[in-house]
Amino acid sequence: MSSRLRQAAPNDLPQITTIYRDAVLNGTASYELVPPDEAEMASRFQAIRNKGYPYIVAEDKGGKVLGYAYASAFRTRPAYRWMVEDSIYLAPEARGRGLGKLLLAKLVEECEALGFRQMIAVIGGAAPASIALHRAAGFTETGLLKGTGYKHGRWLDTMLMQKTLGEGTETDPDPSTYPGTLFSE
Ligand SMILES: CC(C)(COP(=O)(O)OP(=O)(O)OC[C@H]1O[C@@H](n2cnc3c(N)ncnc32)[C@H](O)[C@@H]1OP(=O)(O)O)[C@@H](O)C(=O)NCCC(=O)NCCS
Repeated sequence: MSSRLRQAAPNDLPQITTIYRDAVLNGTASYELVPPDEAEMASRFQAIRNKGYPYIVAEDKGGKVLGYAYASAFRTRPAYRWMVEDSIYLAPEARGRGLGKLLLAKLVEECEALGFRQMIAVIGGAAPASIALHRAAGFTETGLLKGTGYKHGRWLDTMLMQKTLGEGTETDPDPSTYPGTLFSE
């Protein structure tokens, strides 16, 4: 399946909403129980873009969106401003072909270029595919939270995985880079 990556745009939202709907209804990556509608997804998209976080899509030759990935704040207290959380969702038919790896590598690259120092994956249901994807992208396991959710008739754990971006903790952050402008007190 040949594909290309590009910045997400508002007219991708119908397809993004469909992909996320399947993940909410059938998976454990999201702890939402009711899929959000397109208006809600549009409002979330705008909030992420307004804050300057990357939001990218993978599309096939015909322009069909196969998957998407974005970064967002892990927490919004100002000292957390150097850390982002990643989110990544593929249409069921697009999984297992290396596309997740491409999307995540691009997201990491964009977040590093912006000056972020850490990326965290909060893996709902500790799903094996997501753990494997993040491990392949250089994330390491940093914690397992037990019984974090109840969905599809079972208790779920959450795996936390983390990747250092750029100089990580080796140098002080540069307040003139983009993350330094976030969540000012
Ligand atoms: C998780 C997800 C994004 C992975 O994307 P993908 O395109 O299927 O993954 P890739 O084909 O790029 O594979 C990446 C790595 O994970 C491994 N992997 C993929 N699916 C796997 C599975 N079901 N079980 C075990 N390993 C798996 C691959 O072998 C590969 O590892 P390798 O490079 O060491 O061989 C995709 O399956 C998905 O959208 N799942 C539902 C939503 C979700 O869980 N999102 C993550 C939120 S944190």
